[in-house]
Amino acid sequence: MQAAQRAYSPYSRLRVGAALRSCSGQVYTGCNVENAAFPVGGCAERAAIASAVQAEGPDFRLAEIAVAAFASDGTALPVSPCGACRQALVEFCVTARVSFLQPDGTWIDVETGALLPYRFVFENS
Ligand code: THU
Repeated sequence: MQAAQRAYSPYSRLRVGAALRSCSGQVYTGCNVENAAFPVGGCAERAAIASAVQAEGPDFRLAEIAVAAFASDGTALPVSPCGACRQALVEFCVTARVSFLQPDGTWIDVETGALLPYRFVFENS
């Protein structure tokens, strides 16, 4: 929720924050960063992943991640990780816990693998 306050989102006005815990116990956060050229913008979840990999290197593994989104007036809006973020999350653990905040203040908890059935896996021949 603190990470969401850092969001740069002048276009959607949706402030999204993500905080993940790595398997080594460290916490990394990210927020959405939008751009006038819309596809250039990025999601909070992938910003947090980039921060974790930058800090821990390629051995980074995901234990859990929480995601929350807020309107400009501070009210919580429904959010769940977008498709691209689901693929990014499952890369670092199929059984990590993903929690996302609901407008009523409750959290939905689900495993990364359950968020993206039939996901793409790169098999080296
Ligand atoms: N957004 C995220 O940060 N994470 C998601 O999983 C869904 C969408 C952001 C991207 C954009 O800045 C805004 O929410 C509206 O799509």
